Amino acid sequence: RNPRNRGLINFTPVAIADGSGPNPGISPDYQYDIILPWGDPLEPGGPAYSWPPTAADQALQLGIGHDGMWFFPMIHEHGRRFGWDEDRENNPWRGRALAFGQGNDHGVLCLNHEFGGNDHVLGKPVPESLEDVRASQHAHGVSVVEIRKGHGRDNRWQPVRSRLSRRIHVNTPVNFSGPAAGHPLLQTPNGNIPLGTVNNCANGYTPWGTYLTCEENFNGYFGTEDPAWTPNESQQRYGFLNTGFGYGWHLFDKRFDLADPDYRNEENRFGWIVEIDPFDPTRTPVKRTALGRTKHEGATVHVDDYGRVVVYSGDDQTFDYIYKFVSADNWRAMRARGESPLDHGTLYVARFGDDGNGEWLELSMNIPALAARFADMGELLVNTRIAADIVGATPMDRPEWVTVGADDKVYCALTNNSRRSVADGPNPLAPNPDGHIIRWSETSGFAGTTFVWDIFLIAEDTHADDREDTFSDPDGLWADPDGRLFIETDGGQKKGLNNQLLVADINSGELRRLFTGVSGCEVTGIAVTPDRRTLFVNIQHPGDGDPNQTNFPLLNAAPDGVTIPRDATVVITRRDGGIIGA
Ligand code: FEO
Ligand code: CA
Ligand code: CA
Ligand code: CA
Repeated sequence: RNPRNRGLINFTPVAIADGSGPNPGISPDYQYDIILPWGDPLEPGGPAYSWPPTAADQALQLGIGHDGMWFFPMIHEHGRRFGWDEDRENNPWRGRALAFGQGNDHGVLCLNHEFGGNDHVLGKPVPESLEDVRASQHAHGVSVVEIRKGHGRDNRWQPVRSRLSRRIHVNTPVNFSGPAAGHPLLQTPNGNIPLGTVNNCANGYTPWGTYLTCEENFNGYFGTEDPAWTPNESQQRYGFLNTGFGYGWHLFDKRFDLADPDYRNEENRFGWIVEIDPFDPTRTPVKRTALGRTKHEGATVHVDDYGRVVVYSGDDQTFDYIYKFVSADNWRAMRARGESPLDHGTLYVARFGDDGNGEWLELSMNIPALAARFADMGELLVNTRIAADIVGATPMDRPEWVTVGADDKVYCALTNNSRRSVADGPNPLAPNPDGHIIRWSETSGFAGTTFVWDIFLIAEDTHADDREDTFSDPDGLWADPDGRLFIETDGGQKKGLNNQLLVADINSGELRRLFTGVSGCEVTGIAVTPDRRTLFVNIQHPGDGDPNQTNFPLLNAAPDGVTIPRDATVVITRRDGGIIGA
């Protein structure tokens, strides 16, 4: 290669022939390590991995279904440790210390545990006791884990014993804030306190150093044996079924029984974006209701020129919508007044015109059609999907991750929609089994209500026989500040490929394959150190839990001699120590 002629992406891609089978593949210019497999202990106090886990053990071990995550760097001063963003906010001097290179080898990783099927977690299809249900529940949620490079005998990243490490799962106390907090629709006749988070898919993080975890397919954990139960309008819009997705929690935990009169409204407590403080384990997770209740894929935070926070979130369902929340004021000013920027502001949903223009439609009681339908903002937020239906949002092909590129365009993965029978401008294929990526520019500022959009990539266009850069089903997205777009996939890839991580040049559209996962897995979650020389991604549901497909990551066999595949985090570095993606 001519070093004077380097483009944005210069690595040798993973060849199609090297991107299948039971083991990961990586560009020859890169290397990977594996950390934080499902079931490993959180230190101190966590018990060693064994399978299947007891409920008590699983509550102190890493969960399953590794998905969205973020790395919060730590810096050191006089033996004390501080979180990066916390320091930038409160002490510019320490913020400068970080700018001079701290925090690239030590930090707190917040890691979502989206789901694990009963066969994978429990070794049986249906729970047989409350103990089984609790083990399944404790495998879901979030891990907060302090990790450090070179802490052991070698130079590997490893979890460390830490007062910050903790599990948040389906039975962890949580608080509500924002307009729907305290609303009757979030109270049960039982009077039970709000507990837990579930199906934590993608994520976000705030400029004040907190983590946002998003509740996606929460409906699937509720069910009932009561033949008289029928879903009300709201339950129907959010997809509640008597069978759920087969977890069977309702068989032994009445909190998840849709027909139990004591737990009426319990399901309304899920479908929210949840804020977690990585640096203060005494802080209770907070469900921020102003951001709406949908099957939130993620929560991408961007700060506009005025200092308002703008939060983008896709609702991942066929024909569902893309949302944006704008804080009422500059985030520092709000926090100085003791307000959360995520509690006060305006929620919008996107309407994409076929002519390339778009509009953000306000979801509030200011809108006459919504004031006519809902008694108050709390009821509206609990039924965000219904409010968006009423104002005429544009049904999309399963909105997944959103990221803001170096070109200030907003990119959203539309993963697929085999059910689409009528194409339109923003969803140009019918059916659309392999997905596409749409992008838009905010034409009246990030807080404004108008945009122009175009299609960045259509997966099908990469499927020709002579294309090396084939991919399908884009899901995870992350844009770096140099103009790269990292694309992760979740679905059946063409040409025998496993799911994968590709890097795109947002100007030229060039695509190269950086990493491939293992049979049956999805590649998801993406986080970087501040210097972007370490990249973390996740292998989710390797082999779909089946040891005949893969034994990834080939760690110790269970007592019965079967090596169960385990979700894990992959640490990617360049062999020459350079910026990831270059
Ligand atoms: Fe959990 Fe939409 O992916
Ligand atoms: Ca997933
Ligand atoms: Ca996803
Ligand atoms: Ca997906």
